[in-house]
Amino acid sequence: MCDEVFGRHNFVRNIVWQKKYTSANDAAGIPDSHDHVLVYRKSETFTRNLLPRTDKQNNLYKYDDQNGRGRWRTDNLLVKSFSASAVFPIVNPNTRRAYLPPLGSCWRTSRETMDRWLQEERIYFGKQGQGAPQLKRYLQEVQAGLVPISWWPHEEAGHNDESKKELQALLGRDTFATPKPERLIQRILAIATNPGDLVLDSFAGSGTTGAVAHKMGRRWIMVELGEHCHTHIIPRLQKVIDGEDRGGITKAVDWQGGGGFRYYQLAPSLLTQDKWGNWVINRSYNAPMLTEALCKLEGFTYAPSDTVYWQQGYSTERDFIYVTTATLTQAQLQHLSDEVADRTLLVLCPAFRAHPDHPNLTIKKIPKHVLARCEWSHDDYSLRVENLPQAPAKPGQLLLFNQ
Ligand SMILES: C[S@@+](CC[C@H](N)C(=O)[O-])C[C@H]1O[C@@H](n2cnc3c(N)ncnc32)[C@H](O)[C@@H]1O
Repeated sequence: MCDEVFGRHNFVRNIVWQKKYTSANDAAGIPDSHDHVLVYRKSETFTRNLLPRTDKQNNLYKYDDQNGRGRWRTDNLLVKSFSASAVFPIVNPNTRRAYLPPLGSCWRTSRETMDRWLQEERIYFGKQGQGAPQLKRYLQEVQAGLVPISWWPHEEAGHNDESKKELQALLGRDTFATPKPERLIQRILAIATNPGDLVLDSFAGSGTTGAVAHKMGRRWIMVELGEHCHTHIIPRLQKVIDGEDRGGITKAVDWQGGGGFRYYQLAPSLLTQDKWGNWVINRSYNAPMLTEALCKLEGFTYAPSDTVYWQQGYSTERDFIYVTTATLTQAQLQHLSDEVADRTLLVLCPAFRAHPDHPNLTIKKIPKHVLARCEWSHDDYSLRVENLPQAPAKPGQLLLFNQ
């Protein structure tokens, strides 16, 4: 399915995540202990980030010559790819003993560079200086991060048990069958995104993706069909924002709380079919809901006037919209046209009885006109977002658009 959506050439890697680290001795067959993270890119322009180095990895660099070059660890001087010019003796200056690479292998660099490394005391001959040569690998010279590989053990990416405990600690229950540990999502977001990027989880579940994205300074969109939105996602993200979620990756990224989110509940479909298959306005829409929905569809700002009944929304200072479920007569249209005067008005009504001849009025029928505005059977639905409600003024505030 991902091949169909993204194109096979955009497949990057199948990452194997060790989701369980124990297996019951009485388990039948061969128990399942891993899961797959399928990595697809949107296009060739995608570049992955390096993984941040952990303290554990940095602590491997435990020697220090106190010469300003910082901490180092030993590394192999041999490489497998053979090059005849990299086969030469290295002489231990303390013992005068000469070392040659074993047959079929060679040193990792040329004689020239090796001489320089010897001079710069970058070659280590053991604690007493009596042993075979090894390379001193300095922490400050290794790359800023680690190249991610396709095997993610539970020590690095977390496991199922950990995620269950995270949810338990956060919401007092672990009612979710397949939660992901925050560390797993953190790794994915570290590789694939940068601060400020938008992260989408269209199957939000317990909301781990949004919670982790939030703590990592990414923006996020989550979509959820079921009740998890109220039982898991909103309470979880509120705790994240209030700084009350002390679990998951909170400590690792030093999350203190902050930010906010908006929550929208999708309205029922504006149009439904009646028993004869005709498109009609959904009965659950009352007059203000219908007007607001049509304003959005037409690119008008919904702002019903208290005094002028036909000004229910505007697109400019002089262009208004009027939605009515009544059939308009010629006399009513004439009256409207007179009141609109030198401004313009879009009138949406189910029917009108007259030949409209008013230059300041544009009259369209609902639901016929709405139907024409809907997109059917497109491969590529263009989502119009310019009329989204404004962000709330204060962070942390919830807005409920139950339209
Ligand atoms: C396995 S969970 C996702 C887990 C989540 N991504 C995480 O990392 O913890 C799948 C979720 O997708 C939701 N879902 C299924 N079909 C959906 C749809 N068409 N639109 C939105 N959500 C959907 C389900 O209700 C369920 O909560």
